[in-house]
Amino acid sequence: MGKAPGIGIFDSGIGGLTVAAAIRQALPRERLLYFGDNAHVPYGERTAAEILEFSTAITEALLSQGCRSIVIACNTASSAALGPLRAKFPHVPFVGMEPAVKPAAEQTRTGVVGVLATRATVESKALAHVVERFAHGVEVIQQACTGLAQRIDSGQFDGPELEALLRGWIEPMKARNIDALVLGCTHYPLVRPLIERIAGPGVRVIEPSGAIARRLAQVLEQHGIAAPADVKGSLDCWTSGEPERFTPVLNYLGLGRVEVRQALWRNYGSLELG
Ligand code: DGL
Repeated sequence: MGKAPGIGIFDSGIGGLTVAAAIRQALPRERLLYFGDNAHVPYGERTAAEILEFSTAITEALLSQGCRSIVIACNTASSAALGPLRAKFPHVPFVGMEPAVKPAAEQTRTGVVGVLATRATVESKALAHVVERFAHGVEVIQQACTGLAQRIDSGQFDGPELEALLRGWIEPMKARNIDALVLGCTHYPLVRPLIERIAGPGVRVIEPSGAIARRLAQVLEQHGIAAPADVKGSLDCWTSGEPERFTPVLNYLGLGRVEVRQALWRNYGSLELG
């Protein structure tokens, strides 16, 4: 049995595992290499220059492990780094993320939709661009959820404190009559049950991991790097933080037992996947 060309997937932490899970389900023969930069989370509070520096080093490390394509499973890193990374690595197919404003704008009946995202994403040109392109005649309420990704990354998935924080953002949107709420950060699907409880039955919660997996399938076909029919897929994980933090999330996402290895940032800004 041969080996599939690897697909590198990265995020600032555990959030991108929600995307990895969708890819694993849609493309079970692919060999996935996931890196969570938990040592540097949250990216959403960093500058675009810092995020680009980390994303470049992560891409180099994943390519050196044999990856032939890269999925940026992080809205924040996609907004800050997707364009420059495509320019720097012109032969590598990248799949990036953007908040799912398009399906929300297509589905809304009230004409008002909400977006929850990190501060960096809300302030990015990338989000302004999707709103401009896809939300004609639709009001898009954008909420920067400072501190949310970090709480989730440290293992907080429910509880009164998190609920109060989310209510403070979602209730005002409900008062303005949203009927769709976009999760514009890959960490947020990990608290989807809580978000749905607060948003209520009249608000559709939308996140794009399934669409990303479908897009990746097209990109792999176009570049002739899809896994051959006779191989068995796999998922390998690395983190620059604490490997045991991944366990509850891998279980929650039904990814089963996966070995999570320690990765190290070197002083000169390069990443070593051990
Ligand atoms: N998961 C990330 C995103 O999709 C980033 C969260 C963070 O590190 O701030 O935006």
